[in-house]
Amino acid sequence: MQLTLEEKEMLVGAQGQATQKAMQILVALGDIYGAKRMVPVSSVQIAGVSYDNLGEAGLQFLSEMAEGGGRTRVLTTLNPAGMDTENWHALGIPPDFAEKQMRVLEAFSRMGVAATCTCTPYLIGNLPRYAEHLAWSESSAVCYANSVLGARTNREGGPSALAAALTGRTPEYGMHLLEKRSPQLTIKVKAHLNGTRDLGALGKVIGNRIEASKAIPYILGIQSATLEELKSFCASLATYGGAALFHAVGITPEAPVFTAPSEQIIITQKKLDAAIQSLNDPGEFNVDFVSLGCPHLSLPEIAHLASLLEDKRVKKEFWITTARPIKNAADQLGYTRIIERAGAKFATDTCCVVAPIKGRFSALATDSAKACYYAYAKNRFKTKFLPFDEVVRFALQ
Ligand code: F3S
Repeated sequence: MQLTLEEKEMLVGAQGQATQKAMQILVALGDIYGAKRMVPVSSVQIAGVSYDNLGEAGLQFLSEMAEGGGRTRVLTTLNPAGMDTENWHALGIPPDFAEKQMRVLEAFSRMGVAATCTCTPYLIGNLPRYAEHLAWSESSAVCYANSVLGARTNREGGPSALAAALTGRTPEYGMHLLEKRSPQLTIKVKAHLNGTRDLGALGKVIGNRIEASKAIPYILGIQSATLEELKSFCASLATYGGAALFHAVGITPEAPVFTAPSEQIIITQKKLDAAIQSLNDPGEFNVDFVSLGCPHLSLPEIAHLASLLEDKRVKKEFWITTARPIKNAADQLGYTRIIERAGAKFATDTCCVVAPIKGRFSALATDSAKACYYAYAKNRFKTKFLPFDEVVRFALQ
């Protein structure tokens, strides 16, 4: 790789031990993927924050980077942690886990990382512009940034994202190059789409189709989509298809740059309905856990939830997962009081996938196709996959 003078200095250790380690990681990555040079990044988002995923080895790596003088050079935010950093006790998180999780967050904070703990950084101030280079790692946020915002990021692992934060650089390959962003498969959607559940189901249908080929989809037929529907779609497409990018005509900003690929498939209502059915486990079973907020809820979603829960009482364990700045706004606007009076709980900074809840519940109701996937894959929960409003109604029964 061709490195600038400053990058060479970083590599030989002239800017400290942690920066040297970070540059070594990026150069190794660049060599593997054939990058010719580094590009400056305007922001970083780091996944792999839950102690449940990191373990002792991950905590030690972070502590060493912090002790080695590692300091962020660009805005850097974090993915959800394994617990609500304030309310962990009420959510049943064991104290020894909480202690380890706080040490992880302290190590990040010492390096200048904003411990925002959310998978929707674009809702809380880490909002890139079109064509900006980033180093993000949360799969749903990567897909959202590349597709909905038109920014450019590969899906980074935790260490490579941290390395980008400490150097302000990332190797230029993959999604950073316009020619690697061209679509390979046209998808015509001929199905009725309404709400986060339906867009999540569409993400599953398309994701299953492209999982093996990793073809970038060029989608026709989505008439309109809200921010909330798009975040649900991105989470699902990334989960089921490993996709970091899609183009949708009339929806995403880069779609006009390209033309429709000749190979095409049609998504019918029948396929969408089958995807929905596949995420609803058959037979009668007791749902003992309800969760909304995968990806993390936006403020309008929380406002809507408050309107549905006003003067009601939930009868199941019900977690609302969101970012702390969004929760703070919900506090100020009175939504939190309504939601908590109804018996639902905010699980801020975390989510039902990264929190250590295996064995505590047996079945989950949610509007998120991604949450359904991990509820089974990680925790062996059965799932009910319902529209947002029906999830709330279900919690009230
Ligand atoms: Fe976010 Fe957790 Fe879902 S990180 S996308 S809420 S699995």
